[in-house]
Amino acid sequence: MTRPDNSHKSGLESTLIETPLPPELSTLPAADRELSVAAPRTALITGAAGLLGCEMKARLGETGWRVVAMPRTALDITSEDDVLRAIEAACPDLLVNCAATADVDRCEVDADWAYAINERGPAILARACRQFGVEIVHVSTDYVFDGSKEGFYTQEDVPQPLSVYGQSKVAGEVAVREATSRCYIVRTSWLFGVGGKNFGSRVIQNARDGAPIKGVTDQTSIPSYAPDVSARIEEIVTLGVHGLYHVTSTGPASWFEFARAALALAGLGDTEIEPVRRGELNQRAPRPHNTAMKCLLSEKLGLEPLRHWRDALVEFVAHY
Ligand SMILES: NC(=O)c1ccc[n+]([C@@H]2O[C@H](COP(=O)([O-])OP(=O)(O)OC[C@H]3O[C@@H](n4cnc5c(N)ncnc54)[C@H](OP(=O)(O)O)[C@@H]3O)[C@@H](O)[C@H]2O)c1
Repeated sequence: MTRPDNSHKSGLESTLIETPLPPELSTLPAADRELSVAAPRTALITGAAGLLGCEMKARLGETGWRVVAMPRTALDITSEDDVLRAIEAACPDLLVNCAATADVDRCEVDADWAYAINERGPAILARACRQFGVEIVHVSTDYVFDGSKEGFYTQEDVPQPLSVYGQSKVAGEVAVREATSRCYIVRTSWLFGVGGKNFGSRVIQNARDGAPIKGVTDQTSIPSYAPDVSARIEEIVTLGVHGLYHVTSTGPASWFEFARAALALAGLGDTEIEPVRRGELNQRAPRPHNTAMKCLLSEKLGLEPLRHWRDALVEFVAHY
């Protein structure tokens, strides 16, 4: 694989978001750049307009990577030809797959669609990564578990998803692992962050709009702050130990507790939150009761737990 020649950029690439060269490099002639400073590593991010994709782009850009960020409009991961073209053009060292559908209820009624994005797309990416010698980070979910465990799920627990979404995500993990051993599979849970569709933003917006807010009391996991998850993913990739990771903030909670804490920090603590049980919401897809996870591999590698979600929430709310 050779480095891309920018003069041949295709229409596909024209919608990419690339981080510019650092100033100390951009003023040097190309040949001198290579001699004077080691070239930055390149990461191609898929699903780059989503919540985690945006944070990955920001994080890797800050830490000196050359980032080729591709939203769905630039790269549909279910198109093998487009994926091969994109990897050949970007010439990445690493591909971070943040593309997915996390629409749990739609997945339940449209399994073909769910599996296309959550299994076939990752399979295509992983095969292409193997072909071009690229490492891959593939992001997965706590919904691979059935939620019946007391305490924390670890990598030793066998996935038994309740929903089509969870099943399609398990299938995606398997497909990636089967295609390449140079993979980091990263399960996370209940992402919140600025941008994208997520409960954290919605709860504050609804309170400001005076819209009714319901908080589920009988479902527990770990709300995880997308910027912290992105930073941890970068640390993992830097360590270079391939494997299956659980990456979450610290501290289990229900959605009700999370909403209470978010509104209090946002100065909206008087807002009424109606406590509801998950079953009362008549949603199509079943949700697991408790999917708080911990990561045996991170512990083994000496990685400190990420901060508590309540501490991260202070930073999050400051954006609103
Ligand atoms: N959000 C959570 O609470 C949560 C919890 C646990 C695990 N996860 C996992 O974390 C990862 C990132 O989730 P997220 O919260 O960042 O989701 P998100 O905000 O919905 O982002 C996913 C992105 O993937 C894009 N996408 C969908 N189909 C695609 C395709 N065929 N090709 C390329 N891109 C496509 C979407 O584009 P469009 O919007 O244009 O369709 C969207 O921008 C996913 O693997 C998810 O399963 C999320």
